[in-house]
Amino acid sequence: MSEFMRVRDELRDNPRTWLITGVAGFIGSNLLEELLQLDQTVVGMDNFATGHQHNLDKVRGLVGEARWERFTFHELDIREIEHCRTAVQGVDYVLHQAALGSVPRSIHDPLTTNDTNSTGFLNMLVAARDAEVKRFVYAASSSTYGDHPGLPKQEDLIGKPLSPYAVTKYVNELYADVFARTYGTESIGLRYFNVFGPRQDPKGAYAAVIPRWIEELYRGETCRINGDGETSRDFCFISNTVQMNLLAATTANPDAVNQVYNVAVGTRTTLNQLFDEIRGRIALRHEKVAQAQPEYVDFRAGDVRHSLADISKASKLLGYAPSHNLQQGLDVTTEWFLDEFESGS
Ligand SMILES: NC(=O)c1ccc[n+]([C@@H]2O[C@H](COP(=O)([O-])OP(=O)(O)OC[C@H]3O[C@@H](n4cnc5c(N)ncnc54)[C@H](O)[C@@H]3O)[C@@H](O)[C@H]2O)c1
Repeated sequence: MSEFMRVRDELRDNPRTWLITGVAGFIGSNLLEELLQLDQTVVGMDNFATGHQHNLDKVRGLVGEARWERFTFHELDIREIEHCRTAVQGVDYVLHQAALGSVPRSIHDPLTTNDTNSTGFLNMLVAARDAEVKRFVYAASSSTYGDHPGLPKQEDLIGKPLSPYAVTKYVNELYADVFARTYGTESIGLRYFNVFGPRQDPKGAYAAVIPRWIEELYRGETCRINGDGETSRDFCFISNTVQMNLLAATTANPDAVNQVYNVAVGTRTTLNQLFDEIRGRIALRHEKVAQAQPEYVDFRAGDVRHSLADISKASKLLGYAPSHNLQQGLDVTTEWFLDEFESGS
């Protein structure tokens, strides 16, 4: 039996209370769906900066009314310490996802990114410490590798950050480490590598590449590739990310706590390859899309050129085993978005 299956069985037998910050967002709403399916009690917090009520509505439809009753939502802001204290009361585990994502957003507006990602993070950590939660699991980022040239990325070899966003995510790790040493607060940081899947927002200037390209191809619009298309990423399907959050929150291995982990698959895909993969899948339903060609535009400031994770630390210390590779994840994701678009959602 896999470690993840064991953890899920144990949680079903011994339900806990969880706080998910950023619960109306992409990753937060997927965590919510999983925890409610496991009959957990969940508190959610979001200010709808980039999240959506429709993500919560979708989860409600998927889990059913009986499970939905185990969920309490607070429209609150992590930039306010008292809001954090309210949300964290009586909680066993915190899954802290709330932040402003996107490297370009942070370059355009470093102050707002810092308020949310650094001050908001510190507020949550203080509130979690004071409420004596069992563990604080938080969304870190692969952007922390910055300009370090090594591939695959290993957790203890990082370079200089390349964007304000990367600075904030590294600051999170530093605070978590200091809180462990100073106050004994247990935490685990998850360095996500380009997560994708259902409910990721395809719209807006800061949309992630996979949902954006699926929507553009579906609507017959031109997809843009920043640079020559040979930039590469370790794209990680959402189920793998959900798995890591649950493993991190519940691990009883003392060596696994107060650590950071890569959350990825361990394979590298260029943007050109990704475009082909997505176009091919959409063309199965909409033949004309097979002819679509991308437009190549300038490289984007702050982007790292190549990203590939070594996931051996997570597999060794937490028993992580990705359930989906890129192709399997794209099968689920393109189907999901096409169903959404075709039903007019
Ligand atoms: N998606 C990825 O590929 C990726 C990669 C690395 C790290 N991350 C991190 O994972 C986390 C979740 O990302 P996501 O992709 O689900 O993004 P998302 O934008 O869908 O979700 C973030 C959520 O946080 C909420 N939020 C923002 N500011 C808030 C505030 N002040 N108070 C309360 N809620 C607030 C938003 O409304 C949104 O619902 C973020 O911390 C992000 O930095 C994501």
